[in-house]
Amino acid sequence: MTDFAFQLRPEIADLKDSQIVDVWKMGFTVPDVIGLWVGEGDLPTPDFICDAAAQALREGKTFYTYKRGIPELRAALIDYHRDLYGIELADERIAVTSAGMNAMMLVIQSLIGAGDNAVCVTPVWPNIFACIEILGGEVRQVALRGDASGWHLDLDQLFAACNSKTKAIYLASPGNPTGWVMPDDQRRALLDFARSRRIAIIVDEVYNRLVYDRPVAPSFLEIATPDDPVFVVNSFSKTWAMTGWRVGWIVMPRHFAPVFERLAEFNTSGGQPFLQWGCVAAIRHGEDFVKAMVARCKSGRDLVVSRLTAMNRVSVVPNEASFYVMLRVADMGNALDFCKRLVVEGRIGLAPGTAFGRGGDAYLRLCYAQSETRLNEAMDRLSGFLAKY
Ligand SMILES: Cc1ncc(COP(=O)(O)O)c(C=O)c1O
Repeated sequence: MTDFAFQLRPEIADLKDSQIVDVWKMGFTVPDVIGLWVGEGDLPTPDFICDAAAQALREGKTFYTYKRGIPELRAALIDYHRDLYGIELADERIAVTSAGMNAMMLVIQSLIGAGDNAVCVTPVWPNIFACIEILGGEVRQVALRGDASGWHLDLDQLFAACNSKTKAIYLASPGNPTGWVMPDDQRRALLDFARSRRIAIIVDEVYNRLVYDRPVAPSFLEIATPDDPVFVVNSFSKTWAMTGWRVGWIVMPRHFAPVFERLAEFNTSGGQPFLQWGCVAAIRHGEDFVKAMVARCKSGRDLVVSRLTAMNRVSVVPNEASFYVMLRVADMGNALDFCKRLVVEGRIGLAPGTAFGRGGDAYLRLCYAQSETRLNEAMDRLSGFLAKY
């Protein structure tokens, strides 16, 4: 740690790199590596979205804009939720954010202070832990259990992890890295619990469209009332191949909009209107792309799962959604060390399960949103590496 001439907050001094980033950085020096480590595919954003943003730029949509996003995007999102779930959202419940990450941070800033805690269902994308810790909160983790039938949550364990200092429960459904989708009875029981304890539920639904047996994953929005303590986080990143755009949104409880607007003013002071015009195009004209994206991910998953299960010592936990699969290698040792060797010697990048909190240690995460050719090449390399490992 650098010894600065100023006093850094301990919460910031103690921040660690994500282990996913640790492995990813090692890959910079490996020529021709196939990176299946981070949460994005190999497709660029489709032209119809880029064109809408470019046109908005040329039209001079370059000024400060509404803290909750341009009205046209909020209107598109209202229509989108109606089409997906048959629900009618009030405009005041929608806020456009600088992607899912910023949405998570804004919600955590609203809820967690020093001495509070948030309970997270793990293994999960670890950035939520850092949001809580940066604000001086304690992260409590309740692990899903993976087996040959999928991932399972013990709801009693989740409830038992909450105490009087618990201000939020965070879960991603569909989950990253697990693809776990919270069953309906658990969603209802959790909602009842949160109501009775006045604890906020932060539901991360950024993978809601990457689901293989139905058009959309079930949402908390279908069961929560506008006054319930539920914040639903979503993003353009995964569904429309827009990771670099950094645009997402939150559906918030009723009457929260003025609080959000003040907080946004002191974080980003609002988003980029020309990018938001691209997002309007994604919502209004993106369904064919989404269908193609899901079909591509489904074939990627089927390919990878059949190749992995045919390998000696490898097993996978079935997933219903997302674009990740969690795999186990018998006698793997430490997952981070394994991934570091795999990058250098095998020229494939996977994310170590140790990066995702409790319950992930024994696994490796693979993102299969890639072309068939690259996935096949990655599987060839992995089996060659394992033969020598
Ligand atoms: C579960 C989950 N939530 C949120 C995000 C944030 O995505 P973005 O900030 O690109 O919208 C990610 C990205 O990997 C994720 O996996």
